[in-house]
Amino acid sequence: MAGARSLVLAAVLFLLLSVFGLCLGGITGKYVRPSASTSDMPKSAFPPPPGFNAPEQVHITQGDHDGRGVIVSWVTPAKRHPSVVTYWAEGDEHKEKQKAHSKINSYRYFTYTSGFIHHATINGLEYDTKYFYELGNGNGTRRFSFTTPPKVGPDVPYTFGIMGDLGQTFSSKQTLEHYMANPKGQTVLFAGDLAYADHYPNHDNVRWDTWGRFIEKSAAYQPWIWCAGNHELDFVPRIGENTPFKPYLNRHSVPYKASQSTSPLWYSIRRASAHIIVLSSYSAYGKYTPQYTWLQQELSKVNRAETPWLIVIVHAPWYNSYNYHYMEGESMRVIFESWFVQHKVDIVFAGHVHAYERSERISNIKYNVINGQSTPVKDPSAPVYITIGDGGNVEGIATSFTEPQPSYSAYREASFGHAILEIKNRTHAHYTWHRNQDNTPVPADSLWLYNRHYYPEEESSP
Ligand SMILES: *[C@@H]1O[C@H](CO)[C@@H](O)[C@H](O)[C@H]1NC(C)=O
Ligand SMILES: *[C@@H]1O[C@H](CO)[C@@H](O)[C@H](O)[C@H]1NC(C)=O
Ligand SMILES: [Fe+2]
Repeated sequence: MAGARSLVLAAVLFLLLSVFGLCLGGITGKYVRPSASTSDMPKSAFPPPPGFNAPEQVHITQGDHDGRGVIVSWVTPAKRHPSVVTYWAEGDEHKEKQKAHSKINSYRYFTYTSGFIHHATINGLEYDTKYFYELGNGNGTRRFSFTTPPKVGPDVPYTFGIMGDLGQTFSSKQTLEHYMANPKGQTVLFAGDLAYADHYPNHDNVRWDTWGRFIEKSAAYQPWIWCAGNHELDFVPRIGENTPFKPYLNRHSVPYKASQSTSPLWYSIRRASAHIIVLSSYSAYGKYTPQYTWLQQELSKVNRAETPWLIVIVHAPWYNSYNYHYMEGESMRVIFESWFVQHKVDIVFAGHVHAYERSERISNIKYNVINGQSTPVKDPSAPVYITIGDGGNVEGIATSFTEPQPSYSAYREASFGHAILEIKNRTHAHYTWHRNQDNTPVPADSLWLYNRHYYPEEESSP
């Protein structure tokens, strides 16, 4: 009898809970992290490669608008030369190898002087082809490889990995290696905040070098699509460093001119079936500014018949239910959100908050000063907003949530990890988030995303 009564009670409780669950919408992941500290790995964890003047900090990114170009970047510590990348397609080892020459930068930052920073653009590659490339000479020669994407087209499958706020801690290492152990990712979309060199006195730029060595094992072999965060500003007038983004821009070259942008801080690329727009939270974006004008024109150029998937990367999230960085993305949301709804952006990836969160498809664009309509509402034309600032940097995890979980927040969890977006065709993409504690690539959060242009149906959370 007592047993039956408690069963009924349990059923009622369950019902109540599910009703509440539905009202509040989302799930807060209950995983409790072991409170291991997230300190930076020592400098000795990032030795330079052996050999005289060996190229180091090798990384690649897309070098043109559609994926037949690659920019190879690297640093030579002692001498400017050789400043050439030698490359050949797999199977062409015995043919004459091709060469591209680098442009060389170096910069000073307070008492730090950089090595010779090379950026070489290779153009006119074949689509969907594996290439090898070689840098350096003598005993400092190093060889790497990459694979170009298939030609742009509406049903071309392609898989992106997504990381943000990585830093160079023991947790960062876990995130990067966990991502690399997941064999699916073909290109990284990076949501900003790279090295966290600014954590050190006078922004010790040696930490930019160690970060370059840290990510090389991935970034030399697949493109990382760069977006700048606040830790890239390195703006310290007190020590005479008045040029925002100086180390970041010297070290990273992106194909911004190919999308008629006037700044490497905002630009677009097309890759397989995706059109990817990178924005800068820390550059002017108000009406009439270069970024505003560019984005307005850029959105009108997106051709969903060629690239059905419209993806935006921006550092500061527009929807964020953690008690960190509250409303830092708000002014940009107010200015651009209606455009994203009008142009049916599929996904917005952001970082900045050091945890994970995925939103429902919602918008908040009805408000004017008198109508009082200032809460987010379900909107099938709106993007899904994903905060992926969970790379594991030295500032630690964001653990404090606003309560109750707002209805727009579908899933949130205070864990480090990475995400994978597997585009299947013009209508379907499978999205997964992988927390570091799960050492095989099992998803902690997953969802079939439906394309907003071709199949604007409601997705169902698992
Ligand atoms: C590499 O070659 C240089 C001379 O070019 C030599 O001084 C150095 O010892 C060599 N290093 C190794 C690791 O063989
Ligand atoms: C698109 O991909 C999804 C998931 O793999 C599949 O179910 C669907 O049939 C595909 N659509 C077409 C037109 O092939
Ligand atoms: Fe940030």
